[in-house]
Amino acid sequence: MEAEEIQDQKNYIKKVYELNKNKSLKYYILTMGCKLNENDSEKLVGMLGEMGYEESKEMNDADLFLINTCCIRENAEERVFGKLGEFKKIKEHKDIIIALGGCMMQEEHITNKIKKSYSFVDIIFGTHTLHKLPEDLYKCVINKKKIKDVLDIDGKVYEGLPIKRGDKKQASVTIMYGCNNFCSYCIVPYVRGRERSRKPEDILKEIEDLAKEGYKEITLLGQNVNSYNGRDGYKFANLLRDVDKIDGIEIIRFVSPHPKDFTDDVIDAIRDSKKISRLIHVPLQSGSTNVLKAMNRKYTKEQYLDLIDRIKQKVPDAVFSTDIIVGFPKETEEDFEDTLDVVRKVNFEQIFMFIYSRRIGTLADKMENQIPEEIKHKRFERLKKLFEDNIEENNKKYVGTTQKILVEGYSKNNPEMLTRKNRY
Ligand code: 5AD
Ligand code: SF4
Repeated sequence: MEAEEIQDQKNYIKKVYELNKNKSLKYYILTMGCKLNENDSEKLVGMLGEMGYEESKEMNDADLFLINTCCIRENAEERVFGKLGEFKKIKEHKDIIIALGGCMMQEEHITNKIKKSYSFVDIIFGTHTLHKLPEDLYKCVINKKKIKDVLDIDGKVYEGLPIKRGDKKQASVTIMYGCNNFCSYCIVPYVRGRERSRKPEDILKEIEDLAKEGYKEITLLGQNVNSYNGRDGYKFANLLRDVDKIDGIEIIRFVSPHPKDFTDDVIDAIRDSKKISRLIHVPLQSGSTNVLKAMNRKYTKEQYLDLIDRIKQKVPDAVFSTDIIVGFPKETEEDFEDTLDVVRKVNFEQIFMFIYSRRIGTLADKMENQIPEEIKHKRFERLKKLFEDNIEENNKKYVGTTQKILVEGYSKNNPEMLTRKNRY
């Protein structure tokens, strides 16, 4: 069934290619949000390439404009509307197609707003219909009609889409789609649907092919990778062990795990591997047990710290990165101090810090005692300062040590130096 749907789209790819032949058309793409969205865009770009479009980095050269949107926080949404203003100006004097896809398009209030105030948008597709870009594009060109192709029901797992990767050595591989957790602040479960895991054999084949092409570093992606369920009994730890066996792959990362699902078999798989990165991302969100409860995270401050200890016991050279949200509804000064306390105790290598952003449709949006913007910002600055003050001290442990890294290229600041993005 899914294979037939993909075959249909491959036929549409050929049809659009025929339409575009000898026209040397170009696309301009903007990708917002997380690595999953970036990986989705690599598939969009793969399909566009096969339809005869070339990439343009300059908006003025392009014939097709595409934004792969994100709705995790308000500022990501605002950027989309800003960009649409720029596209509109170009459309006033040039015959272009504007397509919007991804997470924001799964929100009804957004698609209504686009219909009302941005009616020059030609194609809207959601997260479950990304693979149908060729059909949407073909119908838009042939019928000269606006297309809205958004599904509310959960999408399926589609294999075999063309893909054009942004990097030659480092590749992301999505292992599962969707999320079942419903953290009360988060819009993701509403726009990406329930969890669906790819089959182990499809994932492993993709990574084996990447290794043959010369890729060295793989990042396994999912909203909640450690609830990966390949089939009965084949879980995330099995997948880690099997990826570890693939010759040629030297560094394995994964984002994002959920602390509540970080089981011992996963820790053992990390311990037994020489390839899995020792920089482990463990999203904290808050250090306060009260706030964590209101966030529906299903662990306490103590359980989080205990998990970090358990990992360190088995993997002594493990270091951690995390996500933290400040200013969640009802967060008191004491709650925030708990977050700072965990930050001091764990000594994170990297913290992705976010100011809580109200998302329509989520439980937290309806909670009383929303925190005033000014307090949120002050807490954010305090967290940032605590982290930054510690960087120099934290980095001292690396002086004189030898680390395995994947070189990214020459430094922008000093062309005689090579740089690396992440520690291994
Ligand atoms: N406000 C602020 N940050 C959020 N995140 C998710 N939803 C929100 C929100 N409403 C953060 C979480 C998550 C990361 C990807 O984005 O920290 O781990
Ligand atoms: Fe959002 Fe929580 Fe799911 Fe992560 S685990 S995507 S924060 S609901």
